[in-house]
Amino acid sequence: MEEANQSAVSEFIFQGLCNSRKLQTLFLLPFSILYLMTVVGNLLVVLLIINDHRLHSPMYFLLANLSFVDFCLSSVTTPKLTTDFLKDNKTISFGGCMSQILCVHFFGGGEMVLLVTMAYDRYVAICKPLHYSSIMNRQKCIWLVLISWTIGFLHAMSQLAMILDLPFCGPKVVDSFFCDIPLVIKLACMDTQTLGTVINADSGVLATTCFILLMISYTYILLSVRLHSKDGASKALSTCTSHITVVVLFFGPCIFIYLWPLSITWVDKFLAVFYTVITPLLNPAIYTLRNQEIKNAMKRLIN
Ligand SMILES: *[C@@H]1O[C@H](CO)[C@@H](O)[C@H](O)[C@H]1NC(C)=O
Repeated sequence: MEEANQSAVSEFIFQGLCNSRKLQTLFLLPFSILYLMTVVGNLLVVLLIINDHRLHSPMYFLLANLSFVDFCLSSVTTPKLTTDFLKDNKTISFGGCMSQILCVHFFGGGEMVLLVTMAYDRYVAICKPLHYSSIMNRQKCIWLVLISWTIGFLHAMSQLAMILDLPFCGPKVVDSFFCDIPLVIKLACMDTQTLGTVINADSGVLATTCFILLMISYTYILLSVRLHSKDGASKALSTCTSHITVVVLFFGPCIFIYLWPLSITWVDKFLAVFYTVITPLLNPAIYTLRNQEIKNAMKRLIN
């Protein structure tokens, strides 16, 4: 009896991006276009790489995986956000909310580890060019991808396991446009301060570890490029600049949200939009516009 009473909440209500109806109607078109561009851009990168045998190398396989993850990540939140602009009552079922949490952490965690494997791939290519093909063979590449997905999955399951049993009985308004753990656990009918710290630490450890590993690889790469500055170095540097831009765009908002002591809601929302809607679109743009081989593959596809 008591259990039935405790899980009284069967749905949550999103506050949304803003309160003004007019503004929301205005947002509808640009957000739909952004999402469409994200889907087309990322799937195009995946198709190009899979279909063009000249792009069958670890670097491009990892890039295709990154594009695929970006496509999934933005599909978890953006379609719901966009269709919600039309609704006054932005509800999401309890199951829907938990699935959103699971998927955001699965794809988000997977993407972080994938970025590390991409940095490792560039490290081997630039710092140990003679051994590249023996170190980064097809087998190793598949393993690295599998490891990324597995870590993402374990991370997401651990997060979900911690909140699935929380009693939700009262308030159900989430002040955001998707189920973000810190906002959802605030609604539980018990003191969740310690649990909140543990949950944040779980994400924090993963993000910080990945970030430090990324810093180490790119520092090595940049130092090594500076030492042997020949023709190849500038090409290598240009690839790495794309990588580093993506890393900053991905980790910047996360670090800001989780480590910033003051919580200013509109900044949080702006950053949340940034990393769920904008970053997945920027990744394919950054890689394709700067990468001659992808541009060539695109030309071959069009002809
Ligand atoms: C991800 O990487 C693996 C391993 O190299 C590759 O076989 C696969 O095609 C990639 N997946 C996508 C969607 O690009």
